Amino acid sequence: MSNASLLHDISFRRTFAIISHPDAGKTTITEKVLLFGNAIQKAGTVKGRGNATHAKSDWMEMEKERGISVTTSVMQFPFNNCVVNLLDTPGHEDFSEDTYRTLTAVDSCLMVIDAAKGVEDRTRKLMEVTRLRDTPIVTFMNKLDRDIRDPMEVMDEVESELNILCAPITWPIGCGKQFKGVYHLLKDEVILYQTGKGHTIQDSKVIKGLDNPEIDAEVGEELAETLREELELVLGASNEFDHELFLKGELTPVYFGTALGNFGVDHMLEGLTDWAPAPKPRATDVGEVQATDAAFSGFVFKIQANMDPKHRDRIAFMRIVSGEYNKGMKMRHVRLGKDVSISDAVTFMAGDRSAAESAIAGDIIGLHNHGTIQIGDTFTQGEAMKFTGIPNFAPELFRRIRLKDPLKQKQLLKGLIQLSEEGAVQLFRPLRNNDLIVGAVGVLQFDVVVHRLRTEYKVEAVYEGISVATARWCACDDPKKLEEFKKKAHDNLALDGGDNLSYLAPTMVNLNLATERHPDVKFMQTREH
Ligand code: G4P
Repeated sequence: MSNASLLHDISFRRTFAIISHPDAGKTTITEKVLLFGNAIQKAGTVKGRGNATHAKSDWMEMEKERGISVTTSVMQFPFNNCVVNLLDTPGHEDFSEDTYRTLTAVDSCLMVIDAAKGVEDRTRKLMEVTRLRDTPIVTFMNKLDRDIRDPMEVMDEVESELNILCAPITWPIGCGKQFKGVYHLLKDEVILYQTGKGHTIQDSKVIKGLDNPEIDAEVGEELAETLREELELVLGASNEFDHELFLKGELTPVYFGTALGNFGVDHMLEGLTDWAPAPKPRATDVGEVQATDAAFSGFVFKIQANMDPKHRDRIAFMRIVSGEYNKGMKMRHVRLGKDVSISDAVTFMAGDRSAAESAIAGDIIGLHNHGTIQIGDTFTQGEAMKFTGIPNFAPELFRRIRLKDPLKQKQLLKGLIQLSEEGAVQLFRPLRNNDLIVGAVGVLQFDVVVHRLRTEYKVEAVYEGISVATARWCACDDPKKLEEFKKKAHDNLALDGGDNLSYLAPTMVNLNLATERHPDVKFMQTREH
């Protein structure tokens, strides 16, 4: 591709992920988004909801479906003159650290909220992760075809709980059986909702001007009056959309609609493609790399073991930060200091996926490997730099792992260290005993580890409960104070899979006490690879 057309294409790339609490409607929205992007002919064909209902014991089934989930991990489609990459964020039982790390590979996020429920737990956590990079957030208030809470109240909740200003772009007219559509504040028009059009793109009727009597005729005088009154309040009390604040992650444009009824998703997509940033620069140990830099570079944010465990075939998902990937090109695997020729990268182009042989900044490609690639690895065209900001996240669930056959301790340790390098799970070895403690953010990670230990390392392992509430990585600039801390906190300290010092807290109260007692020690929730 010529330099000019490469720069043009990069400026029209949008790479985003969806953050939401389970059941808020992420899968349904994904279907509708792909419908608008013409990536699927009819909504309802996205694989993934199946995963949602998997019980833990269905891990084998998931294994079979992994081939499918590789291709749905990234969905690329055209919309509004842009080429959009939507990265899947595993959400139900398959929630894992990958979900968090995927958020480090996007330039913006769509936050989906069930408007009947408001801000829920998982959304809170995922928003925290997006705050690490001040990622711009677009908000969709979903399920307006049901009775929802007062929209103003839900927006207040977003503002106070998630610490981000809300700027309504559309405003709902009624809800539940009375849901009639939305008023678009920036376009000054009412867009009417029709029921029964959930699976197709609908030509909605549009009425220009808030004072237009046609509104009264269509939605009824009472709702029209309420709309005008509410809008007066909304305009007085809420924020106007401000593009700069949005790009800084300080303000979110808010849309209302129903994913199931396929209403409002296109309004949101229009805002997202118009306003969300083109591929952003990324930090490295030697300075920032711009998406428009000519040389190719990228980093690995997720690794997926492939279907056939015997071959230990893995796909490493790489976010391209700058330049262009072309089939057969040579790139430097910086950590290993080795040049590799890549001829079989998985690309995720809309339409005929297999035909795509190039990808550019903002895109994701999948690299086949047999365990040589780790999370956080940087690839370049020769430059010895390393991307930063692809962290490990402090686990929230812990189990002690024990062998059924004690003679296999070595294999167990090897397997756990490799699985932790791959990002499947985290490993902690307490200083005070020989326990092996496995930490995860999603419960399915535990099942995956036992299954993979059995099939790939021939080790039978079982879990036991353990009283650890959370972990923090520890660091201290003063070596003397660090030694003192190591002595005093010895019984709570452990080394992780990469030999980094960490503090295992039995309770949050214990963690708070420890941070108070050791003010010179940093207790970190994330750790760089
Ligand atoms: P998730 O991926 O965020 O977990 O949510 P998903 O899209 O699977 O949606 C969760 C449930 O909410 C589904 O119902 C879905 O049909 C429903 N839903 C999504 N959007 C809307 C909406 O705008 N209005 C209403 N009323 N419901 C919505 P389910 O019964 O759990 O699944 P299914 O049997 O419909 O597949």
